[in-house]
Amino acid sequence: MTPEEYRQLINSALEACFRVPENTPYAGLAEAMRYSLLAGGKRIRPILVLEFCRIAGGNTEEALPVACAVEMLHTYSLIHDDLPCMDNDELRRGKPTNHVVYGECTATLAGDTLQAEAFGTILRSALPAERKAACAEILAGAVGLDGMCCGQYLDMLWEGRRLTEQELTEINSRKTGALLAAACQMGVAAAGGSGRMLDCAGHFGAALGMAFQIRDDMLDVTGTAESFGKPIGSDAQEGKNTYMVLLGPEGCEKTVNELTTAAKSILSEAFEDTAFLCALADELAVREK
Ligand code: IPE
Ligand code: IPE
Ligand code: MG
Ligand code: MG
Ligand code: MG
Repeated sequence: MTPEEYRQLINSALEACFRVPENTPYAGLAEAMRYSLLAGGKRIRPILVLEFCRIAGGNTEEALPVACAVEMLHTYSLIHDDLPCMDNDELRRGKPTNHVVYGECTATLAGDTLQAEAFGTILRSALPAERKAACAEILAGAVGLDGMCCGQYLDMLWEGRRLTEQELTEINSRKTGALLAAACQMGVAAAGGSGRMLDCAGHFGAALGMAFQIRDDMLDVTGTAESFGKPIGSDAQEGKNTYMVLLGPEGCEKTVNELTTAAKSILSEAFEDTAFLCALADELAVREK
């Protein structure tokens, strides 16, 4: 499949989620969830789930709920990341942020609900019990105290002071790298792939995730809101520690290229059919959105 074909598959599966009749008392909560979930987005994480499932020898159709779950979890992280108490942003995926449209309380709950539903979506899927359990465990680990939430906490805690490269890597590997690595590993787990494949997928995702966050930091300075779909200059305004502050634009570009090359070469440790993932890594290294 092409990335666009994957995206269409994912978008139509997500479109079918959280539809409730208009007269349901909690229709407003479902609407807020669907607003952010269906606002667009590159769908990189679910694409990684499906492609890793395929190259690990699995059935991508069966992994579709797992792919949707990662996107629900990711969307929850974006809604909360944009809240006034966090990054205080008003544009996401080219639209007003969730709290701007629905208010802070509903936005917070929409995020909470998407997180719970992500796990429910995996656990209700038709995958064999041990594969669902493996996917849920990987996701929980990537989001919890050692993962994305920890990264978001450190991102906030260390605002406004100059960090070492090691400290910044600590933040970024958790806030962004962990979920991207988990998406790759969940694809392998959904396929029942080997431990070697799981390790390899994790290393690829971690390197890709670092490159991805550095590119995100670059676009926060050099991008256009029209293409990026997010406000430009938000990091500086919030006193964030970014790779742009630490390495500057040239240093960032060089590091993104090195990490992308590393990610691509890691793949051959456990997989053969890697052309799609190599092309995706190359595209992400120069993305404008
Ligand atoms: C944005 O993720 C948050 C970061 C981890 C930098 P994406 O760039 O994947 O956002 P969407 O899903 O395409 O909107
Ligand atoms: C956030 O990083 C990563 C998340 C866990 C959402 P950023 O704060 O840089 O993400 P954007 O730029 O708002 O998407
Ligand atoms: Mg943030
Ligand atoms: Mg943010
Ligand atoms: Mg950013």
